[in-house]
Amino acid sequence: MWQGSGGAPRRFPKGFLWGTSSSAYQVEGDNRNCDWWEWEQQPGRIANGDRAAVACDHYRRYREDIALLRELNQNAHRLSIEWSRIEPSEGVFDARQIRHYRDVLRELREQSILPMVTLHHFTSPLWFVRKGGWASRDAVRGFMPFVHRAIDELGDLVGMWCTINEPSIYAANGWITGEFPPGHRGDLVSQYRVTANMRRAHEAAYAAIKHRRPDTPVGLSHHKFLFLPASSKRRDMVAARAAQTVTDRWPVAPGRLRRIVEAPSDFIGIAHYWAQLCAFDPRRPNVQFVRRFNPPGPVTEMGFVSDPSWMRGVLNELRRYRKPVYITENGLATDDDSWRERYLGEVLGQVHGAMEDGVDVRGYFHWTNMDNFEWARGYTCHFGLISVDRKTQERTIKPSGRAYARIATANGLMS
Ligand code: BGC
Repeated sequence: MWQGSGGAPRRFPKGFLWGTSSSAYQVEGDNRNCDWWEWEQQPGRIANGDRAAVACDHYRRYREDIALLRELNQNAHRLSIEWSRIEPSEGVFDARQIRHYRDVLRELREQSILPMVTLHHFTSPLWFVRKGGWASRDAVRGFMPFVHRAIDELGDLVGMWCTINEPSIYAANGWITGEFPPGHRGDLVSQYRVTANMRRAHEAAYAAIKHRRPDTPVGLSHHKFLFLPASSKRRDMVAARAAQTVTDRWPVAPGRLRRIVEAPSDFIGIAHYWAQLCAFDPRRPNVQFVRRFNPPGPVTEMGFVSDPSWMRGVLNELRRYRKPVYITENGLATDDDSWRERYLGEVLGQVHGAMEDGVDVRGYFHWTNMDNFEWARGYTCHFGLISVDRKTQERTIKPSGRAYARIATANGLMS
């Protein structure tokens, strides 16, 4: 057992943030004005034909949900605000929706939970996607009025901003695998445009926030999907490096790529769950000649392997940037809650180890507080510390949630 076995407690620094992470579309319900709503109406897009029509009904039950975060002794929470609610038509802002998010943020503040607010977490308004969405030349121009409005109307309540969630995953899922809207496959040109636009959008949002609220930390969340060589053969090492480059970098000038974690920011936000092995395969020209497959180990509901020991290396790679690091997402898709509890203790041990190595980790946001709508996989994946009855919406804290609460209360691991 990782906890209570009598070893020395591993303490985290005072003020360390213990939180969970979520996104609007995955929990709110009735989010009709964005691309995902339209997408999920199309047969075959979502596992079992699941819909986010109700999701966790969090839009109406946010008080109850925030009370549960309090019960878990959280001092931070990462959430996203839904652009398509706030700006349902281009240039038209909905004061009622802004009030709603003010209420949510105020409730978090009243419970002493610091909100980290994400501006774009995978969903975009229909009016924006009709004009070409993130692949369009006008993408940044379309996004920024919402950003300005969010800063003006919500900025006083926001503890930290996360501009964009996982640009490389968003672009790959929407334009390469087709798992997300707009469902393109193998469209490398658009994938490049999307990440280029998201890079510009991040920089513009960063500058806008710093101008109005210089003291509020701003970053973005980069998804660190690890690609490891399948063998020590040179060609497999090159294959792994190629796959890693595609997820880790975005264009900063025509033909020039740079690491996403090097973007202008006050902190580095890192999401890490999985790794795959990479082997060179001459029969796969469309995917950079790389065959990707799972390493040995138990497979999660997402179909990937999650090994807690990868976290320390992922964090150590960031040490050279000498910036505060927040783990914006990490978790396990399983309905075996004892596995989640074990994983949580082990992964936090790795985080602690990385801090001993000199990485300035300031907080950990577990994905996620409640079992929710896992995009194309619908309700088949259980990442939550709290279960949600799909019929009654009743919430129940799982033992892993209680374990996480004990860690947050102790500000450390007990062994
Ligand atoms: C996304 C979340 C998602 C999680 C688990 C992350 O890439 O930001 O929205 O639920 O992974 O798949």
